[in-house]
Amino acid sequence: MDFDELSTKLKGKLFLSSMMGKCDAGFCASRSRGCSMVQFGAFVLLEEREERNTYWPDPEIDKLTEFMKDQFETYRLESSKLFGKNNIPIISANVFPCSDEDVETSASAFIKAGGDIYELNAHGGIGGDRERGTGSMLFIPEHTQKLFHWAKILVEAGGPVIIKGRGGVIPDFTYHVNQLEQIGVHAFHINVRGEKDGEQDLELLESIRKATDMFLLASGYVKDNKSAESLFSVGADCVGIATAAMNDPDIFTKINL
Ligand SMILES: Cc1cc2nc3c(=O)[nH]c(=O)nc-3n(C[C@H](O)[C@H](O)[C@H](O)COP(=O)(O)O)c2cc1C
Repeated sequence: MDFDELSTKLKGKLFLSSMMGKCDAGFCASRSRGCSMVQFGAFVLLEEREERNTYWPDPEIDKLTEFMKDQFETYRLESSKLFGKNNIPIISANVFPCSDEDVETSASAFIKAGGDIYELNAHGGIGGDRERGTGSMLFIPEHTQKLFHWAKILVEAGGPVIIKGRGGVIPDFTYHVNQLEQIGVHAFHINVRGEKDGEQDLELLESIRKATDMFLLASGYVKDNKSAESLFSVGADCVGIATAAMNDPDIFTKINL
């Protein structure tokens, strides 16, 4: 699917935002009702990791392709039983690479495995990120060029790409989103959880909306109509839910947009 087609399906809708330890094929299928897109992972790619599981897959290309294929096919089968094979939500995976090679191999594995839209995790942390330049530390000045380099690799790999960041890492995302847009990145996802518990940082979202025409996904404390509307009202194109989907499998059908 090209990005025009994907964005038409996502515009004004809700999606399941990735949760490491939760978002495998079974969980995504169980939360798909009312979702425009489900996000698997994070899939963290770390060469030296010995113990492998759904969230720490082997980064070797064939093994990674096989692993993603198995996840996506299981999901497609489960969700086609629920909604029919023409109504399967868009498949995204939140991928946390640790090297240039991981970025290249995971992009290729993701496409071969039949994923629809790759999300680069420039949002989380696994320890050692500041020195390594991974996760949310990709946004700090020491590692910004690496973020742009990885974005370029992903765009050149051919599949649509989302870059995901979160508030609180840098004060202003204007420069980053401008550069990412120029590189040809298709979409930007911002977690707008504010400093205070339950508070959405709407100013941050608004400032990103003003800075870029990229398709904009936002997540952060969405649990009902009001909290979803507030993100759409300041410019989100598509709104994600994570925490509220943990306890309520039907949350996406309860929000009427
Ligand atoms: C348990 C849990 C695990 C998460 N894991 C990831 C992850 O692996 N990758 C990622 O980019 N975001 C992760 N997130 C962030 C969510 O995708 C989302 O952006 C954020 O929690 C805001 O949405 P919410 O308030 O609806 O939870 C996680 C959130 C939770 C609660």
